[in-house]
Amino acid sequence: MSEISISKVYKEKIKKLLIHNKYYYEKSSPKISDSDYDKLKNEILELEKKYPELISSNSPSFQIGFKPSKNFKKLKHRVKMLSLSNVFSVDDLKNFQKKILNYLNLPDSTNLEFSVEPKIDGISASLTYKNGKLVSGVSRGDGYEGELITENLKTIKDIPKKIEKNDFPDDIDIRGEVFIAIQDFEKINNKFANPRNAASGSLRQKNPVETKKIPLNFIAYSYGFLSENKFKKQSEFLSALKTWGFKTNKFNKIISGTSELVNNHNKMENLRFNLNYDIDGLVYKVNDTSLQTRLGNVSNAPRWATAHKFSAKSSYSQILNIEIQIGRTGALTPVAKIKPVNIGGVVVSNASLHNEDEIKRKDIRIGDYVKIERAGDVIPHVIQVDISKRPKNAKKFIFPNKCPSCHSNIIKEFNLSTKKYDAIKRCTSEGYDCDKISIEKLKHFISKDALNIDGLGKKVIEKFWHLSFIRYPYDIFNLDFKKIEKLEGWGTLSASNLKFSIENSKIISLDKLIYSLGIRHIGQENAKLLADNIQSVEKLSKIDNSFNFESFLNIDGIGETQIKSLKKFFSNKTNIKIISELKKYLKIKFSKRKNDGKLKNKTFLITGKLSGISRAEAKSIIENNSGKILSTINNKLDYLVTGEKPTSKKIIKAKELSIKILSQSDFNKLIS
Ligand code: IVH
Repeated sequence: MSEISISKVYKEKIKKLLIHNKYYYEKSSPKISDSDYDKLKNEILELEKKYPELISSNSPSFQIGFKPSKNFKKLKHRVKMLSLSNVFSVDDLKNFQKKILNYLNLPDSTNLEFSVEPKIDGISASLTYKNGKLVSGVSRGDGYEGELITENLKTIKDIPKKIEKNDFPDDIDIRGEVFIAIQDFEKINNKFANPRNAASGSLRQKNPVETKKIPLNFIAYSYGFLSENKFKKQSEFLSALKTWGFKTNKFNKIISGTSELVNNHNKMENLRFNLNYDIDGLVYKVNDTSLQTRLGNVSNAPRWATAHKFSAKSSYSQILNIEIQIGRTGALTPVAKIKPVNIGGVVVSNASLHNEDEIKRKDIRIGDYVKIERAGDVIPHVIQVDISKRPKNAKKFIFPNKCPSCHSNIIKEFNLSTKKYDAIKRCTSEGYDCDKISIEKLKHFISKDALNIDGLGKKVIEKFWHLSFIRYPYDIFNLDFKKIEKLEGWGTLSASNLKFSIENSKIISLDKLIYSLGIRHIGQENAKLLADNIQSVEKLSKIDNSFNFESFLNIDGIGETQIKSLKKFFSNKTNIKIISELKKYLKIKFSKRKNDGKLKNKTFLITGKLSGISRAEAKSIIENNSGKILSTINNKLDYLVTGEKPTSKKIIKAKELSIKILSQSDFNKLIS
């Protein structure tokens, strides 16, 4: 990469981090998971290591948190509130200890003693006591100054307001974590994604009466300013905290040696689902305070402490119930309703059980304690049952033999390509005869790659369906906006915006219309192939069960599976009516592609956001010039077009295969 582009990448990452800082610290409503946030931060730090000349004043290496919000008065911390470095693996942990020993010039064989404390995933606060009286309470803020939230903190029962113990220091900042118990989080009907955000939101209420409504807890674990430090060990300080009337964590331990640390980590990782609060790892602090002083800090984190994180991707919870979810194509998926659990910053309350066979194979029962995994944006799923914890009243799940929504029979289909019966059971109703399938079909109709109607998302579809505003796709073009603007959360502006988007969506290409119908096995690619063949909406609307569907077999890409599905779709009267109704409202753009354009025989794949035009538009420009869009990078690909924030994996793969990589301006030149 050239110097200019590295600097650009660096600046973009900093910009992104600042935006997410704002969501996280100011609005208490993060838009990305903690692990994605950490990843972004680490990418910036890596770039800074390689190219120190890049470092900007907004670098995370200078910032601990984020500026306190403007709602509260600010107060400077007398002693900076530090953050913690992280270790994830045993190697990281060994390395952490080795660095300490190197710094202290101690032999590698030295067994350091650590105070090991659960890392509660809450909000840290610093409480200043003068002569035993709580005088102020401050949030961490950016580490240098925080928000003065004394009155809100005073509503927390675990925070002593007055301490009358002879050995209590005259002037001390007690630091600890404010958090909400999981059960209390579940009870409050809230707008927060997880207990941590709920605690943060509650603490930042302008009116302490509001804070009091959400039961907050406080666990103390360290000190900031201290008039006279008599503590030789962190563990001694933790014991003193208890005698002064603070709550400390009952899982605090003193441990030395890597294998003991790892054993304890494994134990705690299994135990975390039994706790009534979220922990995201363990904090290791060199127990000896004089060694702590010698070790000091690196920019914003102590050298003498680290957080040994738990894997972000899995957690444990209990199955409260099993429900059947019905998809657009009639697939019945069993879903476990679980006790909400935070997995990598996302509260998960549903986990897929895939199908009946999987439930049997894993012997999953209602009431079981299970391990749940969440990977990226994929729906979380149940990995295994902890049989040792199975309650006596755990109940086997009986898979229904009729569709729970429309009571039609359900079947396992024979898969023509694998020559086996599917594991998935399906509702045999004809689409719109089943309410649940109807809703899913409508959601598909308005989705991005179909009609792409802005302001008409999945939630709105559900609402409009329940209000009987819509039953079939064409009802969308007959909505009563006077009624809509009176709905809660709507108004004249949002109703007229919706009207505008719906109007805009009426001009559509034939392939998009075919795709939007949601015919099974007819995805975007097959819809294009069919549109090229059918060519007009008139012809489409004439297709019924007398049509010679076998003629489609000539189309490269359309096979028996698609034919079977098309036959089923077009033998249904509702589907035929939907097409003839839609024809009245829609204006079909001519979608026959030329095949002598200047991009003839050229294949493209786009990654990242393009400026000025949408990816969908870029795709259609390519296709209008006889080019082809591929969905994966392979030897057949000629160009990878890269916009803003492209997927790095794609770039790496393209380089490996020596595929030409085009910037947006290169691409613009090519198509101009
Ligand atoms: S000590 C000197 N101890 O973790 C290091 N922090 O990423 C400062 N946390 O802001 C923190 N439990 O919100 C410490 N036993 C514990 C903790 C703990 C949770 C949080 C705290 C801090 C963050 C650091």
